[in-house]
This record gives sequence, C-alpha cells and structure tokens, in this order.
Amino acid sequence: MSEKKLRVGIIGLGFIARLKHLPGLASVSDKVDIVAFCDFNQDLCDKYLEQYGAEGAYTTTDWHEVVNDPSIDVIHVCTWNVSHSEITCAALEAGKHVMCEKPMAINGAEARKMLETARRTGRKLTIGYQNRFRDDAQFVRRAVDEGSLGDIYLAKAHAVRRRGVPTWGVFTDVEKQGGGPLIDIGTHALDLTLWYMGNYEVDQVSGQVFHKIAEIPYGDEGSEFDQQNFSTEDSAFGFIKMKNGATIFLEAAWALNVLRSREASCTLAGTKGGAEMITDNGYVEAVLNGVAGGKTVFTQPGPSVRAYGFGGPGGPDPGAREAAAWIDAVLNDTEPLVKPEQAVVVTEILEAIYTSASTGESVTF
Ligand SMILES: NC(=O)c1ccc[n+]([C@@H]2O[C@H](COP(=O)([O-])OP(=O)(O)OC[C@H]3O[C@@H](n4cnc5c(N)ncnc54)[C@H](O)[C@@H]3O)[C@@H](O)[C@H]2O)c1
Repeated sequence: MSEKKLRVGIIGLGFIARLKHLPGLASVSDKVDIVAFCDFNQDLCDKYLEQYGAEGAYTTTDWHEVVNDPSIDVIHVCTWNVSHSEITCAALEAGKHVMCEKPMAINGAEARKMLETARRTGRKLTIGYQNRFRDDAQFVRRAVDEGSLGDIYLAKAHAVRRRGVPTWGVFTDVEKQGGGPLIDIGTHALDLTLWYMGNYEVDQVSGQVFHKIAEIPYGDEGSEFDQQNFSTEDSAFGFIKMKNGATIFLEAAWALNVLRSREASCTLAGTKGGAEMITDNGYVEAVLNGVAGGKTVFTQPGPSVRAYGFGGPGGPDPGAREAAAWIDAVLNDTEPLVKPEQAVVVTEILEAIYTSASTGESVTF
C-alpha cells in the first residue's frame, strides 16, 4: 500500500455529509486528509473546515474549484441528485476518483455517461449504497454466496414508510431531485436486491406512481412537511421481470397507509431457502428460512441494526465501513464493492418505472 495520504474534497455539506461522509473519512484519517469543503452555504463550509479540515484545507462555494484542484485525489459528491452526473463527470475528467451519493443520477443516460467517463479516464467511481455494509446485509450476502438460498427467482424490494416524508433539503422538489421516494429510498432497496440476486439482466419493467398523501392532512406522526411544494410522487411501485424469468416487486413510499414501515430491506425466495430483512421502527434484522434434516429451519443472527446505518446507535457503522473499503480500493487499486455498472442498472430500472407510469405501457430493455 502507498504511504501517501489521499487528499479528499467534499462537495455538498448537508445531511449525508454530516452523518456519513465526514465521520466516515475521519475514521480513516491515517489514510486521508480532507482538504476542500464546498457548499453553496458558506456557514456549512466554515463549520466543517474547522471540525474536520487538514492543515491548509480551504472552503469554496464553487465546485469547479475543487474539481480543478490538481492536488486533490478523491472527490465525494454529496449534492442534490440533479448535479450528481455533471459534477462526477467533471471530477473524473480531471483525474479524480469519485464517491457519488445515491441515487447515481436522475436518469439512465446521465448514469451511463458517468460509467463511460470512469471507464475512459481509468478513474474509480462508486455510489453511496452503504446498506450493503450493514451486519444483517453481510449475513444475507454470505448465505447467498454459500448457496443456502439456491436460485433466487422471486424478490421484493421494500422502501415503504407509513409517514416519513423528508423535511430537510429539497427531496420533494422534482427539479432538484429527479423524483420522490422511488429514486430516494427505492434505490437502496433495489440495490440490495439486485446485488443478492447477482442478476442485472433486465427484460421488462412496469410500474405506477401516486401523488395522494401529499394532498391530504398528514396526521400526527412524524414531522410536518411542505404540502404546497411537493412536486414528486409520494409512492411508487414496480414489477421487474429479468431475462431469466426471475421477478422483483419494488415498493417505495414516503407516506402510505400501511401498518408497518419497511425500508432499506428486501425479501428473497430461492429454490433452497429464503431470506427476509424485517424492519421495525427503523431497525432491520435478517432471518433465513430453509430446510435441514427434513425440517423447516430459521436462522436469525441478530441483533437488529439501524436501517441506512447512520444517525444513531445500532451496531458498527456501515458509513465508516463504506469509507474504509472505498479508500482501500483507491489506495490498493482494487474494485470497490459497489460497482458503477450495477448502479447504472438500478438507475435504468427506476427510470423505467417512471416511464411506465406515465405512458401506461411496460418498458422492454
Ligand atoms: N446514502 C444515504 O442513505 C443517503 C441519505 C440521505 C441523502 N442521501 C443523498 O445525498 C445527497 C444529498 O442529500 P442531503 O440529505 O445531504 O441533502 P441536503 O440538502 O441536506 O444537503 C445537500 C447540500 O448540498 C449543497 N449543494 C447542492 N448542490 C450544490 C452544488 N452544485 N454545489 C455546491 N453545493 C451544493 C446544498 O447547499 C446542501 O447543503 C442526495 O443525493 C441524497 O439522495 C443519501
């Protein structure tokens, strides 16, 4: 491994930078220096420069300055969805390795451009799907790798909240985010699901989106959100058929009249066994079911961990694991766990659900 510390710039210093990227990078401070802090909001720049900045670190409100800084090796893109592709492509072109937040981009064309740029420039690109690093997610991954599930032919990707519209940032603004819960939290659940299935060959996608709860009184659960400025869907559902016939049902909602929220999780059913990630009050635990010695058996390693893995207690921090794995991939020139070509397929499926909802037709890949 190289002795040199990587020089990192962070663009976008809101919620996810505060809860995941900055503490995650700080946990590998023997390998990285955070040298550039960029946000439209100068106060955020000053605050995090003081808290996390290496010697000589600076702030800027213009992301081009970070991208064009020849001393920087790695850039983390933590801005609103609409700028992920533009900033990532510019950073790759300037020779930087990039960790971009999810969703990769607001549509398939922008995501494919990011992948093409990474391949052409030979720079590394990964997407912030930190849920793969949760204990329960790793447990299911091992079960899949050991063949305990057999051939997975049915999966459900869960990203449903009873009441949980984000109340910060620009999440309900379609112009800045490209979509609502489907692109925001559906993306995590679908990433996990496809990763377990190891199947990225899509045949057909159909879907429907709704804008219902946004228009009626919210009830007394959770925080209030701005009902006037709510241009995205509030729930979305997709049916995805893979080329080998396997099927996936995807459910995504920030607000839906269901009893239980279930998110950052999936259900897998295979020829030998199944896996369920069960969410309760923001915490997830995995349970395997199968047959051994002629009997049905359940395996539940517990304890449950916090969905998304940041912002509170609940086991080792997946955000720190994500940062450590990513920085090691850059230093050792290995492939990151989350590969951009996988995130492109997730993005294309989400776009196909939006397209199917607006045209009333299914989308053939
Ligand atoms: N991995 C996860 O689980 C997870 C969780 C939450 C958010 N996210 C993603 O992180 C991204 C940011 O979300 P957030 O919750 O931190 O939002 P946020 O609004 O709290 O923070 C985004 C920040 O980026 C800044 N910004 C936006 N565009 C910029 C630009 N072009 N140049 C400089 N600064 C810019 C804004 O001023 C804001 O401070 C989104 O893409 C979101 O989907 C991921």
